[in-house]
Amino acid sequence: MSEKIIIFDTTLRDGEQSPGFSMNIQEKIEFAQQLKRLNVDIIEAGFPISSPGDFESVKAIAQQVEGPQICGLARALEKDIDRCWEAVQYSKRPRIHTFIATSQVHMEKKLKKTRKEVRDLAVQAVRHARKYTDNVEFSTEDAARTEREYICEVVEAAIDAGATTINIPDTVGYSNPWEFGDLIAYIFEKVPNVTQAIISVHCHNDLGLAVANSLAAIRHGARQVECTINGIGERAGNASLEEIVMNIKTRQDFFPFHTDVNTEQIYPASRMLTRFTGIAVQPNKAIVGANAFAHEAGIHQDGVLKERTTYEIMRPSTVGWTGSSMVLGKHSGRHAFVSRLSELGVTLEGQALENAFSAFKELADRKKTVFDEDLIAIVDEQTRSVEQARFVLQDLFIKIGPDMKPSATVRIQANGDSLEGSGTGDGALDAAFSIIKQLTGMQDAVLVDYHVGAITVGTDAQGSARVVLKKDNQEAVGRGTDTDVIRASVKAFLNAVNRLCTAAERAKEVTPSV
Ligand code: KIV
Ligand code: ZN
Repeated sequence: MSEKIIIFDTTLRDGEQSPGFSMNIQEKIEFAQQLKRLNVDIIEAGFPISSPGDFESVKAIAQQVEGPQICGLARALEKDIDRCWEAVQYSKRPRIHTFIATSQVHMEKKLKKTRKEVRDLAVQAVRHARKYTDNVEFSTEDAARTEREYICEVVEAAIDAGATTINIPDTVGYSNPWEFGDLIAYIFEKVPNVTQAIISVHCHNDLGLAVANSLAAIRHGARQVECTINGIGERAGNASLEEIVMNIKTRQDFFPFHTDVNTEQIYPASRMLTRFTGIAVQPNKAIVGANAFAHEAGIHQDGVLKERTTYEIMRPSTVGWTGSSMVLGKHSGRHAFVSRLSELGVTLEGQALENAFSAFKELADRKKTVFDEDLIAIVDEQTRSVEQARFVLQDLFIKIGPDMKPSATVRIQANGDSLEGSGTGDGALDAAFSIIKQLTGMQDAVLVDYHVGAITVGTDAQGSARVVLKKDNQEAVGRGTDTDVIRASVKAFLNAVNRLCTAAERAKEVTPSV
């Protein structure tokens, strides 16, 4: 059997912390369950001391997701490590991941510490974490820009202190495959106790080389790779899990290794992330983009029809790609509905199933064909409607026309009361959003992002809207779908308002530790 490459997924930490990708606790738990189906080895579930919300979600994932190791991030500080343990201790397989920056610029300008101080802090942090668990990972942040002899000194000290995994990050995506591979080889050559730990890598994609650098590191001895679904993460993102895994699987002649990832769960994981964050991957994204397996040019289509491997190096089904198929219509029954959902990896029961089925019937009446994307949108709406929604849209009327100021009337239900407001604006949406702000007491919330798109093809396609609202340093992403794009946008706006309310309540309940 070939050597195994350990897959460490950090979508819920490095991915989720980047702007626009935030998820609520239910979504994080559901996504972690999908990572379990994907069979990743380690889930980095969050950075527990960074916020009460992060703490709660790491704790919930540690309590509810069995199988993968559940890891939390902590700076090289006792209070971070204590808080991290408080959250991950509930997992059967907890891991503490502690880090400190080792590059000159970070030590001098950010940490204002000498090399010796940083090395000592690293050692103390690892020792402290080892009091809780023997599964301790230590990272030398900004390793790719760290002086090589110094990295080796810190790595050796961290292993001596008890680190079982040493992670070498290219924090700012500065390196290239030749240089980064060489760095890993250097560490293997110069660190005397290197075989007592797993060497891991964590590459960012600022120059578009995160996956290439990670693969180069594997060729030079790294046996753990940190990566994210769809490559999301700080700035240009992290190395993409699907690209790393499929490189290893597809080029066995070049990478004589294996991962335990269940590749058929890749596409469902990618879609789930898009669904939760409202951010789609670019169509030409490797492995999971909409065009990844589309053959448009006639010459290519001809070749594929004659022999698939002329232009196809992977079978789409290997990554769980089912393609968008027209599946259901208004005559489809409950059985067909439930079984198609289950093929899409969604299980609904009880009232949730009843509500989703009647939403499907309603949609099928309005729309000739119901696509997989429509079904997923129905499930999403269903999930949003069972969230503890304080404000629910009852009615929306808009008036637009030549020589008149666009106006809107919105009726909302709030704890059994009906609130109604009318007003004008630059456009119908501006009017509706302003009314909602007034009715919900969110006058100072700022709209920081807004997108609307069609879920499928056709003029009768459902519109999907994504709204990001910010208030008191809290950001909330709201989503809404409807065959009417204005209604979809208003639902998304209200969903973001509800999420801001929940976030504000949660912030009051738990005292932040940082
Ligand atoms: O990019 C980075 O250096 C990190 C560390 C915390 C591992 O995310
Ligand atoms: Zn990172």
